[in-house]
This record gives sequence, structure tokens and C-alpha cells, in this order.
Amino acid sequence: MTADTARPLLSRHAGALSGVTRVPGDKSISHRALMFGALALGESRIEGLLEGEDVLRTAAAMRALGARVERGTDGTWRLWGRGVGGLTEPADVIDMGNSGTGARLLMGLVATHPFTTVLTGDASLRSRPMKRVTDPLGLMGAGFVARGGGRLPLAVTGTDMPLPIRYDLPVASAQVKSAILLAGLNTPGKTTVVERAATRDHTELMLRAFGAEVTVEPLAEGGNAISVTGHPELTGRPVIVPGDPSSAAFPAVAALLVPGSDIHLPGVGINPLRDGLYRTLLEMGADIRFDNCRDQAGEPVADLTIRASTLTGVDVPADRAPSMIDEYPILAVAAACARGTTRMRGLAELRVKESDRLALMAKGLAACGIAVEEEADALIVHGTGSPPAGGATIAVHLDHRIAMSFLVLGMVARDPVTIDDGAAIDTSFPGFVPLMNGLGARIGAQS
Ligand code: S3P
Repeated sequence: MTADTARPLLSRHAGALSGVTRVPGDKSISHRALMFGALALGESRIEGLLEGEDVLRTAAAMRALGARVERGTDGTWRLWGRGVGGLTEPADVIDMGNSGTGARLLMGLVATHPFTTVLTGDASLRSRPMKRVTDPLGLMGAGFVARGGGRLPLAVTGTDMPLPIRYDLPVASAQVKSAILLAGLNTPGKTTVVERAATRDHTELMLRAFGAEVTVEPLAEGGNAISVTGHPELTGRPVIVPGDPSSAAFPAVAALLVPGSDIHLPGVGINPLRDGLYRTLLEMGADIRFDNCRDQAGEPVADLTIRASTLTGVDVPADRAPSMIDEYPILAVAAACARGTTRMRGLAELRVKESDRLALMAKGLAACGIAVEEEADALIVHGTGSPPAGGATIAVHLDHRIAMSFLVLGMVARDPVTIDDGAAIDTSFPGFVPLMNGLGARIGAQS
């Protein structure tokens, strides 16, 4: 994004929010549905796919690798895959835009296909660490030529003689776990990933539903060993993508903070490995109801009702981080408006997301008049229980969640909050501004 095309947005103090609205489909599940559909034989129909830029990049990548991918006029996507091991060499560089999930899972997919794939991305993705994925995939036999620090642009030379590995994850990362399991699909024998802290399990759940053998063995020393057996016959199937709990977090926190609000968000995913933010908000005193809890194509889903609440600061334990890793920016906004101190620990991974989220949240909150302390892997926010000053312009550094978090802060701050560029929001939450304004927000182009 250049300065000429930046889209600054301003968020003003809002009146009570009300209404019923559906948040877009889950980003993690959408990427996986497209990738597994591209590997399966026969047709996969995907309902509720997130049509954000990150996921559209994955759809384009699956086409580039030989899958047939179509979007119906009703928004249903249909894929006809190539079978495990059947992807074909892309004719050009694949640009994954802003998407770390898309890039890392794709690296796993092509690592065990005997051809060369060249990947790039935007300035944010090109700055993110990829060695965490290239190291284990290298052990399986793939070759990589990358920029310094293992960064994109990067070429993957897939192996035709892949080796199954047992790999102990050095960081709690569903992306790394998934990349290895996807490489294991076209590898003989069992490929195993050991994770000490459980991370989102959408890959395991959906791979099984497509017909793969995936086992999860609890380990005596803690954690799980997750294995996939190579060369399964994956069969196309319907996928219904639930609403994204990470996207629902923004209207949900806005409704908690704006006095008098009462909103309803139907069909939001509540996978227990993704619900850390909601558990934390309940501990802070939030009025959130989960109704009609049900299973939707293998994922738990509920209808959420959120009412304005008086929040109190809490200590968020470090071991909760994997289940709310993307939600710390918006939790920090909730903490800024709560009464008392909120301590969030175990946040080192936030420094290597779409931006250094720990540094950007600390800097942005301070600019909005909030007392905040930034440590190497912790964020401590001192809320006063009254509306923050606001009045700042925040540089979002191509980070959608930083952008949405500060727009929510503007809804409760005394003075409007501006973000320098709202374009990144489209990566995960297309239609965010009209959806929020439909509930009662006052977000618009800076005038
Ligand atoms: C994701 C895993 C998380 C998360 C990201 C989506 C996934 O990243 O931050 O937005 O879909 O697997 P890490 O695996 O790097 O923690």
C-alpha cells in the first residue's frame, strides 16, 4: 500500500449499538477448506467462505496448482481437486498478499510435490519469519532458497522422495503444525507433530472429515503427538464455514464498551481452542450469552448476545495465549476501558504477526492517553473505568487487527481516533465499516 492509495478512517464516539448481524466466515477454516478441496477427488462445496483478500489469494493459489475452483453467484464455492500428490507446477510466482496462514500452509502442501514453487507477499508478509516452516519441511526433503532470515520471496523445491518425520514444535503454532501435516499427506508412513501447548485444530478436524487418518495421542510429559498417515484418499465434501470468532471479537467488544448496547451475532464458531478471548471477557464481567450451541460440519457454533457491561481488569495467564493469539489487540482495547489493571503475558509471538502487535498496541494506546507498559513478552494496561482520551492518529502497518482495534477504541474515546489506512481490514473482514455502522458506529473517511 503506498501513501497515494492509503484509505484513512476516522471513528467517532458512538451511541448505543443494536441489531443482529452475521460476521464473515472463519479465516483459518476458509483457507483449509480451499486447500483440502484442491487435494480431494471429486467436488467440494464450500458455504460461507470468507471472501477476504487473504482467502482469495489461497483460492488463486489452488487454481495456479491445477485445481478447478469456481464461485457461484449465490456465494457458494465449488472445487474439483487433483488428488493427494496431484498438484501441478505453477506457471508463475504465487503472491500470497498479507497472509501468513496461506503462505505457510501452502509451503507445506508443495514441499512434497516434485516441482518448484516461488512465493512472495506484501511488505508485511515479506518481513515475517519462515524458518519455523522451512526447517521441518527441509528435514522431510524439500529445498528452499529464501532471502536473509528465511524470508519471502522464497523458492520451494518439492521432493519426490519425502521422509516422514516426528517434529517437536519449538513455538506454539497451528500454522507450522498444519504445514508439516499437509506435507505428510504426500509422504509414505506417519508424519508426527508434537505440540506442548494445544493450538487450533481445524486442520486435524477437517482432514479427518475429508477422509485422512489423523490421530492425536496425549503424551505423559504433557501435550499431544498428532500424526497423519500418508497417501490417504481424500474425497470432496461439503464444508459449512462458521462465523469467525476472531472477527466477531470486534463488534462484541464494541458492544461491551458502548453504554446501552445490545447486539446479536448468530453462527459464530466457538471451537474451544479459539475461545480464550471470550473466557477472558467473561472473567472481566462481560455479559455474553452463548445460545443454541450446535455442531456445524464438525465445528462447534453458537449464537452470541452481547450487552454493554462494566469490565474489571484481570490477569490473563500465559498458557491462554494459543487460544486467543489474534485477539490481544482488541482485548487491550477492552482492558483500556476496564476498571483496574489487565496483565497479558506470554505474548512473544505477537511480535511476528502481520506487525509487531505488542509494540503497536502499546504505542497506540499510550497515544490515546492510556497508561500502558510494554515488556518483552507482556502488555500491562491500566484502565480507569472511564473513556480514554483518544484523539490520536494510529499507523497500522498493514495490520488488519490493529486497524479494527483502534476503530473500536474511537467508538468509546472522548475524541475521535484516526487510522492511517483501513485497506488492510479487507484481508480478514470485508464490509467491516458498513457492518459496524449498521450497528450504530460512526466510522468514515477522514474529512
Ligand atoms: C492461524 C494460526 C495462528 C493465527 C493466524 C491463523 C491458522 O498463527 O495467528 O491468524 O489458521 O493456523 P500461528 O500459527 O503463527 O500462531
